[in-house]
Amino acid sequence: ACTVMVSRYDPKTKKIHHYPVTACLVPICSLHGAAVTTVEGVGSIKTRIHPVQERLAKCHGTQCGFCSPGMVMSIYTLLRNHPEPTPEQITEALGGNLCRCTGYRPIVESGKTFCAVSNDKKYFFNSCTSLSISEVPFVFCFVEMCTKLYNEDEFQPFDPTQEPIFPPELIRMAEDPNKRRLTFRGKRTTWITPVNLNDLLELKTSFPEAPIIMGNTAVGPSIKFRDEFHPVFISPLGLQELYFVDSTDDGVTIGAGYSLAQLNDALHFIVSEQPKEKTKTYHALLKHLRTLAGAQIRNMATLGGHVVSRPNYSDLNPILAAGNATINLISKEGKRQIPLDGRFLEKSPEANLKSEETVLSVYIPHSTQWHFVSGLRIAQRQENAFAIVNAGMSVKFEDGTDTIKELQMFYGSVGPTVVSASKTCQQLIGRKWNDQMLSDACRLVLDEIYIPPDAEGGMVEYRRTLIISLLFKFYLKVRRGLNKMVRTTSLGLWFVSALEDFPIETPQGIQMFQCVDPHQPPQDPVGHPVMHQSAIKHTTGEAVFVDDMPPISQELFLAVVTSTRAHAKIILIDTSAALALPGVVDVITAEDVPGDNSYQGEIFYAQNEVICVGQIVCTVAADTYAHAKEAAKKVRIVYEDLEPRIITIEQALEHNSFLSAEKKIEQGDVEQAFKYVDQIIEGKVHVEGQEHFYMETQTILAIPQEEDKEMVCTYVTLGTYLFQEYVAAALNIPRNRIACHTKRAGGAFGGKVSKPALLGAVSAVAAKKTGRPIRFILERGDDMLITAGRHPLLGKYKIGFMNNGVIKAADIEYYINGGCSPDESELVMEFMVLRSENAYYIPNFRCRGRPCKTNLPSNTAFRGFGFPQGIVVGEAYITAVASQCDLTPEQVKEINMYKRTSRTAHKQTFNPEPLRRCWKECLEKSSFSARKLAAEEFNKKNYWKKRGLAAVPMKFTVGMPTAFYNQAAALVHIYLDGSVLVSHSGCELGQGLHTKMIQVASRELNIPESYIHLSETNTTTVSNATFTAGSMGADINGKAVQNACQILKARLEPVIRKNPRGTWEWGKCLFFSLLTSLLRGYQTNMDWKKGEGNAFPYFVYGASCSEVEVDCLTGAHKLLRTDIFMDAAFSINPAVDIGQIEGAFVQGMGFYTIEELKYSPEGVLYSRGPDDYKIPTVTEIPEEFNVTLVHSQNPIAIYSSKGLGEAGMFLGSSVLFAIYDAMAAARRERGLTKTFTLSSPATPELIRMTCVDQFTDMVRLVRRAPC
Ligand SMILES: Cc1cc2nc3c(=O)[nH]c(=O)nc-3n(C[C@H](O)[C@H](O)[C@H](O)COP(=O)(O)OP(=O)(O)OC[C@H]3O[C@@H](n4cnc5c(N)ncnc54)[C@H](O)[C@@H]3O)c2cc1C
Ligand code: FES
Repeated sequence: ACTVMVSRYDPKTKKIHHYPVTACLVPICSLHGAAVTTVEGVGSIKTRIHPVQERLAKCHGTQCGFCSPGMVMSIYTLLRNHPEPTPEQITEALGGNLCRCTGYRPIVESGKTFCAVSNDKKYFFNSCTSLSISEVPFVFCFVEMCTKLYNEDEFQPFDPTQEPIFPPELIRMAEDPNKRRLTFRGKRTTWITPVNLNDLLELKTSFPEAPIIMGNTAVGPSIKFRDEFHPVFISPLGLQELYFVDSTDDGVTIGAGYSLAQLNDALHFIVSEQPKEKTKTYHALLKHLRTLAGAQIRNMATLGGHVVSRPNYSDLNPILAAGNATINLISKEGKRQIPLDGRFLEKSPEANLKSEETVLSVYIPHSTQWHFVSGLRIAQRQENAFAIVNAGMSVKFEDGTDTIKELQMFYGSVGPTVVSASKTCQQLIGRKWNDQMLSDACRLVLDEIYIPPDAEGGMVEYRRTLIISLLFKFYLKVRRGLNKMVRTTSLGLWFVSALEDFPIETPQGIQMFQCVDPHQPPQDPVGHPVMHQSAIKHTTGEAVFVDDMPPISQELFLAVVTSTRAHAKIILIDTSAALALPGVVDVITAEDVPGDNSYQGEIFYAQNEVICVGQIVCTVAADTYAHAKEAAKKVRIVYEDLEPRIITIEQALEHNSFLSAEKKIEQGDVEQAFKYVDQIIEGKVHVEGQEHFYMETQTILAIPQEEDKEMVCTYVTLGTYLFQEYVAAALNIPRNRIACHTKRAGGAFGGKVSKPALLGAVSAVAAKKTGRPIRFILERGDDMLITAGRHPLLGKYKIGFMNNGVIKAADIEYYINGGCSPDESELVMEFMVLRSENAYYIPNFRCRGRPCKTNLPSNTAFRGFGFPQGIVVGEAYITAVASQCDLTPEQVKEINMYKRTSRTAHKQTFNPEPLRRCWKECLEKSSFSARKLAAEEFNKKNYWKKRGLAAVPMKFTVGMPTAFYNQAAALVHIYLDGSVLVSHSGCELGQGLHTKMIQVASRELNIPESYIHLSETNTTTVSNATFTAGSMGADINGKAVQNACQILKARLEPVIRKNPRGTWEWGKCLFFSLLTSLLRGYQTNMDWKKGEGNAFPYFVYGASCSEVEVDCLTGAHKLLRTDIFMDAAFSINPAVDIGQIEGAFVQGMGFYTIEELKYSPEGVLYSRGPDDYKIPTVTEIPEEFNVTLVHSQNPIAIYSSKGLGEAGMFLGSSVLFAIYDAMAAARRERGLTKTFTLSSPATPELIRMTCVDQFTDMVRLVRRAPC
């Protein structure tokens, strides 16, 4: 797992210290004397599972399970230190772990089961409750609603005394008085652990250039990502002299070895002991320590390492400098002190420590009565993200006055180092702390701190605005403090809202779903919230992913060499240097492809020219991945750039560059209608793309067989037939020679439909050429670069409407950035166009769309398949119409929403009744109107913070417009012992498909679930399986499994009749007990020439409403509450369905708010990992998150259920529109016009720059217009 627990014995305190760490950043040598506990050591299905593992599984906190061991370790470590944690501690402990599937709510909930006191105010529905839905004729009159997805009574008790003991020999080692220096010698580097301080100083003199490795959180990433090399490392980790807190009357000295977590504890203690006026610096540090990285990094990173490494984004150094901290240094020459000031932070050589010196400790003086210190920061997400801009500021006044005696301002993330605005501060000395001073300060600091237009990280105008916005916040904080001490003009109520940052709350909420009919046989699991089939294996780490598979004899690793040019001719590929390196077996290029190198427009290895940055040019096969990667760097490619280089949609439109023909649907007479409307508006909407960020990157194991050119491939995918097809084409062999296996994927979200097929072809060619098994695992950066993601969209609209809000005509154009090859772009566009009307009836409606061909990596399927982008355009024009008509967007939605059985714009008949119910219940049950009024009241009182609410309705489609894709197959074996093996054509991606299939087989065969096993999906048992996509995995595979079981059950009838009291061991009487069932699936069709057809088997309806609060000064937002009402018809498994809805919602929310892919104008992707691309963490999810499954009927699907895998994604847009509502309120107050253009994502940058004010006006650079 990413997170493991390290335990160390402290001989001074005689205590054992347990803490979580990020495993990949811990050098193995640093663990000498420590005990490491991994998830395997916590519990196992082979022995005993731990309560943490059990509860995470039973609370449905795992879906794909790739993150689960890390989650277990974070909660487990917390419990080792705090057996009865608070909910806040649970949230804090999970802040450093990412999950892409669940939306975190169930993970937090599993942790909360260990809390003595829960903060859940809202869990009042312990038993079933009744909800009247009698107004809807086609559903049951009363549906019993349940709110508990698991039963606490089933949990084994947690007994903290039963944990494994710390190894006594490690205690003896730690207390050994005869300890000696420890040296580990490797091939290239030597690791030395000094025995005491003198030894450390000796070593520092002998190896002045050697880094001191403490947390390794600065050195480690430099070695991994920036190829830094050190022949010697000195690691004084655990050296007692570096670990202490010394408190005096004037301040506190903290040992350099203290981790940031220990620093946090020490400061909390000091703050509790000292009077408030002395602790202002400590409070400022504590605020930033809560959000700096995650718990793992805070437990590894040390104060000394932080101060010395001086990252330009440092959250602590600006505060330490503002608080006049000093650094205590030691070397063989003796001790000395240097100030931790601007010159030190700006790395001025004369202010630096000498290479032979070590930081012993940092002294932080107490603040005084007339001294104010603050830390300020804004990041893309609240926790675990580097600051976009941060600052540490302090001011000292002449006693008893508001006259500035000393002023210090330090800014992070505005240049290559933390910078001091020293000139500005100097010029303000002697000034009064008033508005005029602030205005001059802003002008001066903008002059002093220059961010060049091409600065790394971009966002120049925003960052400049933040420089003065943060200064303003500091100004107000000090004003507030001064008001209590001297008479200054008191702060107006309006300004108070600028002061506080958003608090981090522990999420809570209710999940409601239909109770199971009390008459249903107890053995029948359908409708119950059954735990994911692999959940326990996920949480114990025993679920096998492809990379967990043991090495195969002779196997080789593959590393890729990708194009660095967007469009260029390949002049030369020189592989000689790569081939000469140790361990390298071969370099594979297009020349080596025995079959088609270009298949259906997808190119496996670039040939003659490259068409995007990130295209695979060649691969290197070597005995280890390290060798392969090293050699890949040595491949020399000479390019000659070609024109045109098309990167953006706008450039593609200019060049008329498209991947396929236009798709269009139309109803009524749009042109004619425009002539008779009251008003017409036109607009554009930009929706940016999204990275799948599945936790398990693309992974393939290709094993060539001895006979008949057979190839066995194990990989993660959601489309086995496509994989087989591509591999067969590349190898030029029939598909029956290729056996493809997939057991589970660590998340997919659409990103593992077509890309594994391409990568499979690439690796199969390597396997064929070398004749050896190939293990091909993409690193995160390569995965993000090569496989691309969701299509960015440019939407254009022209809307004709009446003054009462009725929309009469709409003309919509969609253009998506498809990238350099067809992939699924045409299909995505078809879906986008077909779903473009969403929930609204517009009598004269036209939608046209085309995918653009550009020189970017080819974008692909992503959950929602175009819908989450396309529908933003619709909601945007609804919002614009509302603004023009002086109505709320919700009123315009209501006015134009489908009301009765109707035909869609592509002429498919449907009944929108569940849509209206979801919408109505969403508004009513969330008290939307009352909360909207309350938000307006709040906004009147708070100039710098604004609240916004928005509700969105949804009509989503399930299935595909082509019938071929809507079919599935199943193979059910009943063995002679009565056990049953189910295979089907769907892939398990974490969405609980296998779990639902077991529920189906259990009901149909009338046997307990424990009799049924589901092992994997493969092409040898179920052939020609279509994608597990379109939200219909459970629909079509469920029907196939049902069908197979029913036929088998019928065959068993004679046996049962003979022995009606017999048991399931009837199976023993069967010799013909297996059956393949190939199902004719949903019959759909679409005639694109006419623009009409029954394109989808059915629709899923839903609505969500969200409330946010926005900080107008920084652009941060907080999601206060979300309510989702989703039409689930009859849920086969409410836990799985709610998990899908919540997970998709949070993924959608990330897409619409913080996830931002950044490309250079040359088409180079900058965001290639978790540092640059931020998916939501536990702190982003709604503070209150309520989900209700609304009951309806859907006879066409199995057990009248509905497919809910994707629908929740779009509901995340309620957050986007709530943010827009809040921004609109800010703009109205500032006297700006009502309408402004929408774009997505609503990042902090966009929010800040849209909430224009005197500070944005002051910053006079040309800016990316938000409007
Ligand atoms: C995932 C991640 C997220 C992060 N997020 C944030 C964030 O949000 N905000 C933020 O401010 N920082 C963040 N950081 C940076 C982190 O705070 C620093 O990397 C960390 O404080 C460095 O401490 P260390 O002990 O790990 O240093 P090491 O990597 O062990 O050492 C760093 C440098 O300091 C020197 N050094 C260490 N100790 C001494 C000593 N006693 N005397 C002399 N020289 C010494 C070493 O020689 C080396 O050059 C993040 C880092 C990571 C990996
Ligand atoms: S369950 Fe967390 S990433 Fe899949």
